[in-house]
Amino acid sequence: MKILSVTSELFPLIKTGGLADVTGSLPKALLSSGIETTSLLPGYPVVMQSVANALPLLVFEDLLGERATLLHTQLDDLNLFILDAPALFDRPGGPYVDQHGNDHPDNWKRFAVLSLAAAEIAKGALPGWVPDIVHTHDWQAALTSVYMRQMGCDVPVVITIHNLAFQGQYAASLLPLIGLPASVYTTDCLEYFGDISYLKGGLQTADAITTVSPTYAREILTPRFGMGLDGVLNERVMALRGIVNGIDLDIWDPSTDPYLPRTYDATSLKRKRQNRAVLLERFGLDQHDDGPVFSAVSRLTWQKGMDMFADAADEIIFNGGKVIVFGQGDHDIEDALKRTAARFPGRMAVHIGYDEPTAHLIHGGSDAIVQPSRFEPCGLTQLYALRYGCVPVVSRTGGLSETIIDANDAAMSARVATGFQFHPVNTDGLRLALRRALDTYSDTRNWARLQNQGMKTRFSWERSAEKYAAIYSSLVSKRAQPER
Ligand code: ADP
Ligand code: GLC
Repeated sequence: MKILSVTSELFPLIKTGGLADVTGSLPKALLSSGIETTSLLPGYPVVMQSVANALPLLVFEDLLGERATLLHTQLDDLNLFILDAPALFDRPGGPYVDQHGNDHPDNWKRFAVLSLAAAEIAKGALPGWVPDIVHTHDWQAALTSVYMRQMGCDVPVVITIHNLAFQGQYAASLLPLIGLPASVYTTDCLEYFGDISYLKGGLQTADAITTVSPTYAREILTPRFGMGLDGVLNERVMALRGIVNGIDLDIWDPSTDPYLPRTYDATSLKRKRQNRAVLLERFGLDQHDDGPVFSAVSRLTWQKGMDMFADAADEIIFNGGKVIVFGQGDHDIEDALKRTAARFPGRMAVHIGYDEPTAHLIHGGSDAIVQPSRFEPCGLTQLYALRYGCVPVVSRTGGLSETIIDANDAAMSARVATGFQFHPVNTDGLRLALRRALDTYSDTRNWARLQNQGMKTRFSWERSAEKYAAIYSSLVSKRAQPER
């Protein structure tokens, strides 16, 4: 079976968050079910540098007035189509923002063009290569199925919601500029509170909708988590499924991780101490005591509850621990975290930045990872934490609630606990969870048990990839027998 995956990020080529991890690792996992994925992504400068020997397959002379070349290359196990459209993608900054952190003003066009190219491929633009299924990810790829339906292309489409907070909402006056007729401006397609919403269009025209955990799939049916799309999702509930993300066990493996000064596994956890020393030095923290290191590697945003962490981090310091925060995001939240750190020189460090080696080192050297998200479709950081013998402290929401088992008495005595959950999701809730975690840390045996139980948890892609494979297969057979 051939899948065309359409995405705005893919690890290791371009990543701003978990979306890239998923689109980079799911295709490899699907291979064992005989499913071959080819991923279409934009030719951003870093992508073009990494695929210098990609071969041109096709020139699109006019995608919403832009000329684009479709390139093909293979990178290890990944099959890639790159959409090289310099006017849209060859510019400084990240995939969505310029070098000053402002949205690229033509994001509406950049991702409409990506989606239009995907639709053309699905319809047969490439002689000899037509996908059996198109799999789109988030709002950036969501228009694909809208274009396909307009073209009369009936290849089944699966859309995955990684985060409902980002929807691609634009003025309805853009419709002619994205090449769509007024007839799609209806509540059962793109119309959204007087605007158009790319994500809504995708949700209304795809054959199956998935999101990245069963809990989030239920949560988004409610006004509290539905971000204005709960009505649409309730209408399409029969097509909606939650499938929890897996992680790439080769890339996130403490026994082989090239970014760790010292590798280790569950039988040699003591070696984490040496990583801890390097980590503390890197972040300019005191070396001469034994308190635990609690870290956060995260986008520093409201979603991630990092404002609450700025308020509650002193709980860790007052109980003899140290705090490391690494990430970037909203300036207000960055500043709040920095203000807290300034109160505790040598004991709390906040570094603004984004790089893969540091993220790995933090997991390799920390005792606990804190993730107090207000909502979390799945979350990958807590899964990496488990694998690296860090104990996650998480809010009870979305994927966090079903991937971490709270260390309550029952779970401790059944030897299944892997971390700490808190609810309600507010600063006091977080503070209490931190207190519980610090308390447990002082009981060496129980802490080691938590670490070991976490390291035994397997969040490989196997089971989840099978679920995607089952969805793909059922859509393919349904298409073959349209009467059913
Ligand atoms: P989200 O996609 O919502 O940001 P996830 O937990 O699914 O949350 O994925 C976050 C991904 O981004 C993880 O791979 C994590 O390691 C990575 N990440 C977050 N912040 C940083 C950072 N400052 N530097 C490097 N990687 C980061
Ligand atoms: C989004 C979500 C995160 C999820 C990731 C990958 O960025 O915020 O929870 O893990 O996508 O699916």
